[in-house]
Amino acid sequence: MPSRRLEERRIAFQRYKEDVKRDGKPFYPYAMFHDTVMSLVVVCVIVGLAFVWHYTSLLGPSLAAKADPGTTSFVPRPDWYFYFLFYLLRIFKWPNSVILGTVGIPTILLILLLAIPFIDMRRERRLLRRPIAIVAAVLVALSMGVLTYKGATAKEALGAELLADVPNWVKAEKLPAQAVPGAKLFATSGCLNCHTYLGAGGSQLGAPDLSAEGSKNKGITFQIQHLKCPSCVNKGSPMPSFAAFGDANLRKLAIFLEASKGPK
Ligand code: HEC
Repeated sequence: MPSRRLEERRIAFQRYKEDVKRDGKPFYPYAMFHDTVMSLVVVCVIVGLAFVWHYTSLLGPSLAAKADPGTTSFVPRPDWYFYFLFYLLRIFKWPNSVILGTVGIPTILLILLLAIPFIDMRRERRLLRRPIAIVAAVLVALSMGVLTYKGATAKEALGAELLADVPNWVKAEKLPAQAVPGAKLFATSGCLNCHTYLGAGGSQLGAPDLSAEGSKNKGITFQIQHLKCPSCVNKGSPMPSFAAFGDANLRKLAIFLEASKGPK
């Protein structure tokens, strides 16, 4: 005795077959003609947009400013449609949950999406009769919207803003005058993309807070060596080399780091 639902599906499928027989049109040439026309429309729209972009400035400049390979203060930002992933990276902190946040969650959601036709086999199409699917879709759209907004408005560790913090650092840590040039360099060199210093910056890749780096008393020579080749000094360090700054600048940074004994 087949269940009632199975019976209903059989009847519905039978009705569908009869509908197709009575009103259906063969794929060739009807559907093929539709597809061809629609493809041409899409191609024409793309070509049209390319012309508008090339000959007017309605869609933005055709070329932005030249890339500067020597920059040390560039703050990379993704295109807007990746802001939600970008913000996920901020929520999930290195190293424990980053993989989960950036690869895990999107992959799980994609697999769920692929699995839906196999999970939900009902023929029901009306939106009001599919509460779970609708709630899930609304939740996904809502969370992506919120994450995109948060990503778009997130404050970056921008050099100019951080530079304004230097006087506060001098006061809080009682930094001597010769540490100030290093502090300014530190604020504008991207160090704070990974490190924190008195609450400024963001912690990435497990980089330590440097507010009290000087109290480790590692010495100027160590600091310069470490900045030149972090992984030579601290095995496996993911910190990039700053050897390109030149010895004079590295010395300034080292003096600042050694003078940072924590807030007093
Ligand atoms: C890409 C991320 C990243 C950037 C950018 C970065 N660091 Fe680091 N830094 C790390 C990590 C990770 C560690 C821990 C491993 C190590 O000690 O090398 C670290 C460690 C350090 C230490 C501690 C060394 C010790 O053994 O006490 C100092 C000091 C330091 N960084 C200074 C700087 C300065 C100054 C800059 C900017 C010129 C900078 N870092 C830029 C990731 C970064």
